[in-house]
Order: sequence, then structure tokens, then C-alpha cells
Amino acid sequence: MWITNFLTSSIGRKLIMSLTGLFLILFLTVHLAGNLQLLWNDGGESFNSYAYMMTHNPLIKLIAYGNYFFILLHAFVGILLYFQNKGAKGTKYAVSTNASASWSSKNMALLGTLILAFILLHMGDFWLKMKMGEGWINEVDSIALGHPVKDLYEKVNYSFSQLWIVIVYLVGLGVLALHLSHGFASAFQTLGLNHKKYTPMIKMLGKIYSILIPAGFAIIPLYVYFFK
Ligand code: HEM
Repeated sequence: MWITNFLTSSIGRKLIMSLTGLFLILFLTVHLAGNLQLLWNDGGESFNSYAYMMTHNPLIKLIAYGNYFFILLHAFVGILLYFQNKGAKGTKYAVSTNASASWSSKNMALLGTLILAFILLHMGDFWLKMKMGEGWINEVDSIALGHPVKDLYEKVNYSFSQLWIVIVYLVGLGVLALHLSHGFASAFQTLGLNHKKYTPMIKMLGKIYSILIPAGFAIIPLYVYFFK
């Protein structure tokens, strides 16, 4: 069947990595924009109301389930590709441009595995506790919504008041930066976007993205730890 041929072919797997990777890049951008509300000095009103909307809107819930599936698919197919490349002599999935990109490109599977471990820890601390019943995260009245909501703002502040958690996040975000520094441009390359003018632009955009997004996330634990 064409679908099994596609999923077992090298180009099919690379295409899955590229498309799921681009979706995850989009998720990271939206997740950071929402999380930056943690820095607002409003006692968590905007962040908590936002988190409530994100977890109760049926369309966003559907996208969230897609997101979990894409994370797992990206990790699973990435591991398959790793073993496939290890087995094949001479063929490499990675396309390297310079010395630092080539280290990341050769270690995408290791970096990805570390990011998966980070996501599991991260979701275990915030997402899972939010989904569990009473007693894990307090409730607080939302002025905007007019009813009580989970006080995720307080939970995030509590987590980032602990130095070891801040360090785990900073290491995780450093690993994410390395993964993105190769992954961003590679995703476009797999889609066949090879152009004299646009390819260098995408590579540059990838470099900027891979620094700005993890740095944006890193501001949150650092700000909470040092200034709250
Ligand atoms: C300072 C950094 C971060 C903070 C404060 C933060 C905060 C949160 C919070 C409060 C939740 C649970 C509520 C919700 O679903 O929106 C969450 C969920 C999640 N976070 Fe983060 N996050 C951070 C960084 C990251 C990074 C770097 C990744 C990925 C590499 C990530 C991946 C996820 C995922 C996959 C979920 C589940 C989303 C969903 O249910 O739709 N987060 N995060």
C-alpha cells in the first residue's frame, strides 16, 4: 500500500519530520506569547484567564490533542531515522552548513531525546497537576471570566522559586536552541525549498528563531527566581 511504502521510505519519514517540526515551531511561538503574560504585574489575572480559555475552548483542545500526537510522532519517526542513518553507510539525513550547525545536525536524535525528557518533566509539573483534581493547584477568582479558575500563575511562580528547577529549564532551553538551530532550516530544505536568494534567508531566520524563542522562554524562570 502506498501509505506503508511512504512511511517506511526515507523521504516519507523526512517529510513527516519536516511537517510535524514546523507545527511544533508554530506551537512554541504561540506558547511563548501566552507564557509571557506571566511577566505582567497583575497577580496572574491575565495569565490564569488565558490558561483557562486555552484548556476549555473545544477547538483549541482539538489542536492540543494534535500537538501531543505530533510531539510523539516527531520523536518516534526521528528515532527510526536515526537507526536508519546509522545502518546506512555514506548517507546522512543531516545537511550541515558550518561547524556549529554540523555538531547539532549530527546530534539531533540525542538533542531530541533530551527535549522529550524535558517536555515530560515540564508537563508532569504543570499540565498534569492542572488536569488532576482538587488539592494540586489552588483556585482563584478570574475578574475577566467571572468564575474561579486554576491559579497556574501561582504554581509557575512556586516552581521557579526553586533553583534546581530554574537550572533544569535553562539546560532544557539550551538544548532546544541547538535542536532548532539545525531543525528550522532543515524542515524547509526537506520541503524542497532550495533557492539562491531564499535559502540563505531561511537559514538566517532559523538562527535568529533558535536564539530568540529559547531566550524568550528563559526570561520567565530567571525573572521569577531573581525578581519575584
Ligand atoms: C519558561 C518556560 C515555560 C513555561 C512557563 C511554560 C508553562 C506551561 C504551562 C503553565 C502549561 C500548562 C498549561 C497549558 O497547557 O497551557 C504548559 C504546557 C505545555 N508546555 Fe510549556 N512552558 C514553558 C516552556 C515550554 C517549552 C520550552 C516547551 C517545549 C519544548 C513546552 C511544552 C509544553 C507542552 C507540550 C504543553 C502542553 C500543552 C497543551 O496541553 O496544549 N513548554 N506549559
